[in-house]
Amino acid sequence: MAKIKMKFVCTECGTESPKWLGKCPGCGSWNSMVEERETVIKTQGVGLSSVQMKEKPKSIIHIESEQEPRIETRMKELNRVLGGGVVPGSLILVGGDPGIGKSTLLLQTSHALASKGLKVLYISGEESVRQTRMRADRLGALTESLFVLCETNMENINEAIETIQPDFLVIDSIQTVFDPNVQSAPGSVAQVRECTAHFMRIAKIKGIATVLVGHVTKEGAIAGPRLLEHMVDCVLYFEGERHHTYRLLRAVKNRFGSTNEVGIFEMSEDGLREVDNPSELFLSERPLGVSGSTVVASMEGTRPMLVELQALVATTHFPSPRRMSAGLDHHRMALIIAVLEKRIGLFLQTQDAYVNAAGGVKLDEPAVDLAVAVSLASSFKDAPTRPYDVIFGEVGLTGEVRAVSRAEQRVKEAEKLGFKRVIMPEKSLKGWKPPAGIDIIGVNTVAEALSAALE
Ligand code: TYD
Ligand code: MG
Repeated sequence: MAKIKMKFVCTECGTESPKWLGKCPGCGSWNSMVEERETVIKTQGVGLSSVQMKEKPKSIIHIESEQEPRIETRMKELNRVLGGGVVPGSLILVGGDPGIGKSTLLLQTSHALASKGLKVLYISGEESVRQTRMRADRLGALTESLFVLCETNMENINEAIETIQPDFLVIDSIQTVFDPNVQSAPGSVAQVRECTAHFMRIAKIKGIATVLVGHVTKEGAIAGPRLLEHMVDCVLYFEGERHHTYRLLRAVKNRFGSTNEVGIFEMSEDGLREVDNPSELFLSERPLGVSGSTVVASMEGTRPMLVELQALVATTHFPSPRRMSAGLDHHRMALIIAVLEKRIGLFLQTQDAYVNAAGGVKLDEPAVDLAVAVSLASSFKDAPTRPYDVIFGEVGLTGEVRAVSRAEQRVKEAEKLGFKRVIMPEKSLKGWKPPAGIDIIGVNTVAEALSAALE
């Protein structure tokens, strides 16, 4: 019997080594090497090169440019993230924490496409056909042309694809699928890589739009080799706080559109519902006229979103005060506290400070700085803010307020939701005309913003 050869493979980048290493020489990550069996893979002659015609290189101006045909999914938010719809023959990877709603999202998408007359094949390696049917009952996702199969063996999946000839294929999840020609466990680096490569070939050759569900690691990256993300056309992350009902679908890679767009959904009893107006959702529980609460206009992709920011400043009982933030970068918060101390003269050294973006959203834009500063100062002085103010602007280390992008859209969103006043960087006022129904206060320093907001 031939001796089984073992090798070590990095789960991050796929680098191989004959012996175990603590640090991967390929990508520098620690403790990422796992043991795997050396595999000999029989190629089945379906490689891309074998079907592509031999062509001579062409000048770029002589290549016909054609709009990618797109299949609209009837889910506006999903279309938005994909750049207008699903491209036939594209391979999409969807990642997200367990239980966040990936299977729900894809079953709803499958239903939406099947009810347009497309043939859809949903392959589940995690749930039985009956479980999927029960879920579909709840979601109202019953269509004749939606086919479901519970299978993990690649060869059987191939057969199913041959018999059904679907237009849209979902593999839930890539970590459960195994190729019997590869002698390592399902979910291992070699299996995931081979299976993904295989689905890519099928997608490109047959023109089937394919979605792969990928598990994520503790750190939040898609499990399996990093090169998985390089192989596919789109990488989408489905994220959200477990204790909140809304979910964000974010593109981190998209070969057919921009990666700036974000789709917003709400998880309800009968599945995911699209959220047309996120600002209303995030402001729904806002208390009015209390200290420490402000509303900031932040951008999620190309869409403005109003979010409530809350701060609480209270005398500390510790030798060094606590600074905690939820939904915001705590380095930026420390910077803003230092500016308030040094430039405004607020004595925060003996105070604990907490800042929270309500609703569990994550704001990672510098444009939220000014609202954080006003919230902190308002709570420290116990001075209530006006309930119909919206604040945005970046804060610099000298206490200046810097210009931010897309000021016009932010102001329009504030006006649309009935806010009366916007406190914003004066420098962002150039080149556009603010709407008539709203007061604009342009400020150059944090001190000016505070005196306007907390008069
Ligand atoms: P699921 O799609 O199974 O998550 P994933 O595939 O990402 O692991 O979603 C499971 C969660 O969603 C589960 O906790 C229940 C919730 N859910 C609803 O709230 N409403 C619904 O209609 C459905 C189908 C699920
Ligand atoms: Mg699932």
